Amino acid sequence: MSWMLEEQGFNPDKITTNGNKFIIGNGAMGYRGTLEEYTKEQLTACTLAGLYDKVGDRWREPINAPNGLSTRFVCDGEPLSLLSAAYESHDQTLNIRNATFRRRTIFKAAEGNLIDISSQRFVSMEHLDLIATRIEFKCSKDCEMLVQTGIDGEVWDINGPHLESFVADERDGVLELSAVTHELKQTVSVAETIVWEGMTGQGIIKDGASIYRTSLVYCKAGTSYSFVKYFAVNFGDHRESVAKKSLTRVLEARLDSYETHLLRHETHWERKWELSDVRIEGDEEAQFALRYSIYQLHVIAPTLSEKVSIPARGLSGQVYKGAVFWDTEMFMLPFFLHSQPEVARNLVMYRIHTLDGARRKAEEYGYRGAYYAWESQDTGDDACTLFNITDVFTNRPMRTYFRDKQIHISADAAHGIWQYHEFTGDDSVLVDGGAEVILECARFFYSYSYYKEDKRRFEMLDVTGPDEYHERVNNNAFTNALVGQTLDIALQTAELLRVKHPEAYEALIAKLDFGNDLDNLGKMLSGLYMPQPDPLTKIIEQFDGYSKLEDVDLATLKSRILNKNEYLGGGNGLATTTRILKQADVVLMLHLFKGRYSREVKKANWEYYEPRTEHGSSLSSCIYALVASDIGYADWAYEYFMRTATIDLTGESKQYVGTLYIGGTHPAANGGAWMAAILGFAGLHLDQGVVNLNPSLPGRWSSMSFAVQVRGQSFRISVSGTETSILSNAGNSSAQAFRIGSEERMLKPGDGFSCRISGNEGGGELAG
Ligand code: BGC
Repeated sequence: MSWMLEEQGFNPDKITTNGNKFIIGNGAMGYRGTLEEYTKEQLTACTLAGLYDKVGDRWREPINAPNGLSTRFVCDGEPLSLLSAAYESHDQTLNIRNATFRRRTIFKAAEGNLIDISSQRFVSMEHLDLIATRIEFKCSKDCEMLVQTGIDGEVWDINGPHLESFVADERDGVLELSAVTHELKQTVSVAETIVWEGMTGQGIIKDGASIYRTSLVYCKAGTSYSFVKYFAVNFGDHRESVAKKSLTRVLEARLDSYETHLLRHETHWERKWELSDVRIEGDEEAQFALRYSIYQLHVIAPTLSEKVSIPARGLSGQVYKGAVFWDTEMFMLPFFLHSQPEVARNLVMYRIHTLDGARRKAEEYGYRGAYYAWESQDTGDDACTLFNITDVFTNRPMRTYFRDKQIHISADAAHGIWQYHEFTGDDSVLVDGGAEVILECARFFYSYSYYKEDKRRFEMLDVTGPDEYHERVNNNAFTNALVGQTLDIALQTAELLRVKHPEAYEALIAKLDFGNDLDNLGKMLSGLYMPQPDPLTKIIEQFDGYSKLEDVDLATLKSRILNKNEYLGGGNGLATTTRILKQADVVLMLHLFKGRYSREVKKANWEYYEPRTEHGSSLSSCIYALVASDIGYADWAYEYFMRTATIDLTGESKQYVGTLYIGGTHPAANGGAWMAAILGFAGLHLDQGVVNLNPSLPGRWSSMSFAVQVRGQSFRISVSGTETSILSNAGNSSAQAFRIGSEERMLKPGDGFSCRISGNEGGGELAG
């Protein structure tokens, strides 16, 4: 049960959200949970990672490949589609353990003929360019069935059409469809073949941008017919070589059985779950929701490429321009760091490969160093437009300052690289360009900052923090804290390189002409203004003047809304002049720097900001869960955890703003669910090389257990209401320090230790 997402019946209103919910993928492509008979109208999409296109002055966005799964059945002249035909039953299943999607529909054709059609599909984890499906059908009465299966070139585009110059061909039973992208003239080639023993004759239909084969089957009542279909997608500069890759892939695929392919694919998934599964006893709903969140992260993880990262809507389509935001470093990276550091490495390497784009952006605004794109694609140039939201009242684009002022993005990129280094102990990322990114980000902040002579301090003015409803504010506490961290890690990075990799250090300092800048960073770090808790209330003001804004409660603010899609931020937004915030801001800072603030301060701020947070972003709830766990608010932590973990299951997030589709999957919330469980409920926290555990499980969980990787070593951790145990994998090569509550132990390979803990307090008592 805990691995199966099942849905009985068919509700046309759920087509879009089910497309997200039942998605399958392998990091190189995502295939939405749509049915074979669907077209672009139902938002069918096979979204490719890392290939973007721009048409005219429209938004640049990723490419959806032609759909090689497209299949239609026509029984005695009557098309069998769930969208139009009569049916007796329909169910669909996503098995998140092996990432397979299944559908079964029993159609009611003329004269009571029941046609049972089922299919299973997967996006191969073995061959990242391959998708396989097996389709079966059976009739209750003899009939003539026309099967039309091939490649649908009419793809769903938001700001397209991106593909042009279609060429379709059939050779030796393989259909091949190539098209070229508008902007970069990249060829996208889809090859498709079927394996159907006993197939009778075949015709080819070329229909505009699509190509299909047709086969007429004289069905005998009660006999099962089935065929297997492989389709491969590749893209690149040269049409011929790209087409050859796709062709070769499907020709090779057909040499092995569907079952063999499935088995190989499953082996990859088994390994993923060994490394990342979190077992929860006592709460089936939470168990499934958390596993499902982890599944979503695996489906979009770039396992092989360090040139792509994870977009804010994963691979569920073109929403948000397929762009990579701070979501990756701050919300998803922790999961990969703790379970698959090699994927985490790819994610941080992406920032290294896009450094030049960040340099261009800094220069464009008149700064030095690297100012990372708020919305980053393949080159690192910013895809975020100056008018990024359309006003629902005037239908005019609104000037927003996400691109110009969310400077914390450079700190987030640097944070990600440093986290990777801290967690894995691997310097290679620093030497391979990570140090350069960190230094350039720190240099950008120095160049952005203001030194106030009268106050004798550096300030960060005219910025936007995580709470986007308040743009262009001064000294956003979160931003200042992250800027400080960037300066600090830049100095640490320089020192580490100087001592451990002197040649690389000399070369880098010379390349960047960074000599004087190191002094500047030091000065700025010691003189940087950090908003502090008010001595009386302990509240940290979100930014200068925040506490002078109207203190309206959320319900009153919502009662002022005139249009359910209106934007609450921006110049005239309802929240702008109030203290209502879009998402965790100060509270996120309290999570990131949890060792810096007392419990009293965390509590005061959580209580103050929580009722004022609108959670207009899916990034918000998990942070409230994390800090709630930290301060012992177990019920709140659980509620916010469930909101985060179920976001793509309920599909209750906003789907449209005006006419703009903004739905899709929510990887940051998925990563946030993992964080809330492991960093929150288990209280795992790496501090100066020591792994700390301060568990506080939700009341209904009798235990949770999971595997983690720290500094290249594997550990298994189990937490119950009364006991926490850690087992160091026998294959580990070195000892690792752990602290449970107040007990500290050095665990050698193969060692284990358990500690009794008292509920939420985390105070340790040694048991064995
Ligand atoms: C949030 C940002 C986030 C973006 C993409 C926005 O609504 O406010 O923090 O990066 O969505 O998920």
